[in-house]
Amino acid sequence: MNINIAIIGGGLMGREITSAFARWCALTGVPFTPVLKAVADLDQETLSWFKKIPSVTQMVSDYHEILANPEIEVVYVAVPHHLHEKIYTDVLRAGKDLLAEKPFGIDLAAARNISKVTGETGRFVRCSSELPFYPGGQRAFEIARSGSIGRILEVVSTFQHSSDLDPTKPANWKRQNTTCGEGGVLNDLGMHSCHLPLRLGWKPKRLFAQLQKGYPERPDGKGGTATCDTWDNALLHTWADIEGQETPIRLEMKRLQPGATNTWSFEVLGTDGGVRYSTSDTRALHIFERGKEQFWKRTDLGFSMPFKTVTGGIFEAGFPDVIQQMWAAFLLERAGQLGDRFGCATPEEAVATHEIFAAALESHKTSSVVSL
Ligand SMILES: NC(=O)c1ccc[n+]([C@@H]2O[C@H](COP(=O)([O-])OP(=O)(O)OC[C@H]3O[C@@H](n4cnc5c(N)ncnc54)[C@H](O)[C@@H]3O)[C@@H](O)[C@H]2O)c1
Repeated sequence: MNINIAIIGGGLMGREITSAFARWCALTGVPFTPVLKAVADLDQETLSWFKKIPSVTQMVSDYHEILANPEIEVVYVAVPHHLHEKIYTDVLRAGKDLLAEKPFGIDLAAARNISKVTGETGRFVRCSSELPFYPGGQRAFEIARSGSIGRILEVVSTFQHSSDLDPTKPANWKRQNTTCGEGGVLNDLGMHSCHLPLRLGWKPKRLFAQLQKGYPERPDGKGGTATCDTWDNALLHTWADIEGQETPIRLEMKRLQPGATNTWSFEVLGTDGGVRYSTSDTRALHIFERGKEQFWKRTDLGFSMPFKTVTGGIFEAGFPDVIQQMWAAFLLERAGQLGDRFGCATPEEAVATHEIFAAALESHKTSSVVSL
């Protein structure tokens, strides 16, 4: 069955999602096919890229025209953070379902309002968070929740970039509080670090945060300079109750991590076992076993995706694949057909990330441990 989709914001992510739809034939067991019908973007050059997608019949600069199109069932929105609340709630009030981008509003108040309008309109809403769909992410999640690793001692969940180390990289809206949000890197990368701990029910109950800024000025890409006032690195030392034990969870999100490109890592250590996965070594899953001797075992994962594809099982997964898997989960869950497979981040989880970010800002400001 075809599902008619519109995209608002055809930039980096709008195009990535379009390419995932364009090779939907890779999926073998998903009875829904997303068909991109309409795109809205303020930038004409960005819009004209979509001329190469034959199914797109509406290309507009005013997104309200898309919302008035009765053909459109689902809208994906990928715009700067200060526009999330207005555009997401407009989408919902127009009677469309929504795959929202993180951070689901510029701050906690915005996220709560989007969640409230979701409830009022009864629309199906999920928030983009694709990295747990890597085979290694899925396996680490299964092991973490299985109970097989004994009492959990420590959890480390991180997401790291390094491109901001280059002072000549032009500033964009992600480097300014007015458009990215006061949370800065928390807003930009935080969902990726928080999603699995939250899905496992390990919500921090208190935290201590260390936040760092990068270069205060960058080229603006037009021959001048632009002020950059966002936090670039965040270290969150948190405590959560896991199986009745107070357990340390370290959440990291960094735009200044030497050597890291788009590195998402998740590690859980327990008294009887452990698991470690990082996209920097995409295929490798490390499993700890404690016996008379202690072992870290490494296995190469193949293309063992939650939603089956034509791709051979010995091959490896990449970013475009997990984006496509996330969309498969979205469309199946929307139709009530996800079963017990891993679903996209929920509005409740997105609001919970903002509760963590707000506590982190408060903790850094006051140099104190903050309760959530
Ligand atoms: N899930 C992920 O891995 C991931 C990765 C990058 C970005 N993101 C998120 O995606 C969103 C967009 O980020 P991006 O990197 O694609 O940004 P981008 O700057 O590349 O694209 C944003 C687009 O929105 C357009 N736009 C701005 N105002 C608009 C309006 N009123 N109507 C229509 N279009 C408008 C811009 O012209 C631009 O083309 C953000 O929420 C960001 O946090 C998610």
